[in-house]
Amino acid sequence: MSGPAIVVREVVKSFSNGDARVLALKGASLEAAFGELLMIVGPSGCGKTTLLSVICGTLAFEEGEVSVFGHDLRGMGNGEMTRFRRENIGFIFQQFNLIPTLTTVENVSVPLLLRGCSKKSAQARAAAMLEKVGLGDKLRAYPAQLSGGQQQRVAISRALVHEPRLVICDEPTASLDAAAGHRTLELLRESAVHPGRCVLLVTHDSRIYPFADRIVQMDDGRVTGQFSDPSHLHHA
Ligand SMILES: Nc1ncnc2c1ncn2[C@@H]1O[C@H](COP(=O)(O)OP(=O)(O)OP(=O)(O)O)[C@@H](O)[C@H]1O
Ligand SMILES: [Mg+2]
Repeated sequence: MSGPAIVVREVVKSFSNGDARVLALKGASLEAAFGELLMIVGPSGCGKTTLLSVICGTLAFEEGEVSVFGHDLRGMGNGEMTRFRRENIGFIFQQFNLIPTLTTVENVSVPLLLRGCSKKSAQARAAAMLEKVGLGDKLRAYPAQLSGGQQQRVAISRALVHEPRLVICDEPTASLDAAAGHRTLELLRESAVHPGRCVLLVTHDSRIYPFADRIVQMDDGRVTGQFSDPSHLHHA
């Protein structure tokens, strides 16, 4: 656990759109420490989602280095990367991406089943996680029967149930009202912020800035600065 949890160094990533080539990352660099909730902010199109995709290994990049918990992503094959992601990373998105035909407890069981857990023990752990986020009375409900904030709590439970070391969140509060957004961040801090782990969170939502340990600013494919002392943002 020495050194940073995440290192991104001078990463370049382009997309080709027919004839045009879009440079989405133009030498982006950042580091995240163990135990840190790091927020990434910046204007639409500046490369935030692209950066998250590079860090979780779902998007190949042309230049630079990315290392996650000391593992150099460039050295990993596809199969190894998929296993690494399944073991170590949990995802939370703006659109909660729950499976509509599965109940709450079944949705939260999915990451455990993928890791070879028996159905019975997966459902028991999923139910315990849902109790913890205040949804113990909704275990058999389907996503469509839940409010937006409740659906996001199910999505958070699914992302955290296998205790991943890295939690990646892309606009997790964008479709929530202020109270539900606040509750979401409280939950993330309680459940995901831990000495051996790391949370990366992209947001446009300044209402949740006080929950960050540190905030970095992106602009036009690069990390351009940081709020070096966000402690003044911490709410009373
Ligand atoms: N799959 C893709 N194919 C082509 N271009 C892409 C692709 N994904 C992203 N881009 C382009 O790369 C740039 C960065 O996109 P990205 O989604 O990372 O921005 P963002 O900062 O997450 O924006 P937002 O805040 O709107 O979500 C944009 O110009 C976008 O159009
Ligand atoms: Mg985005």
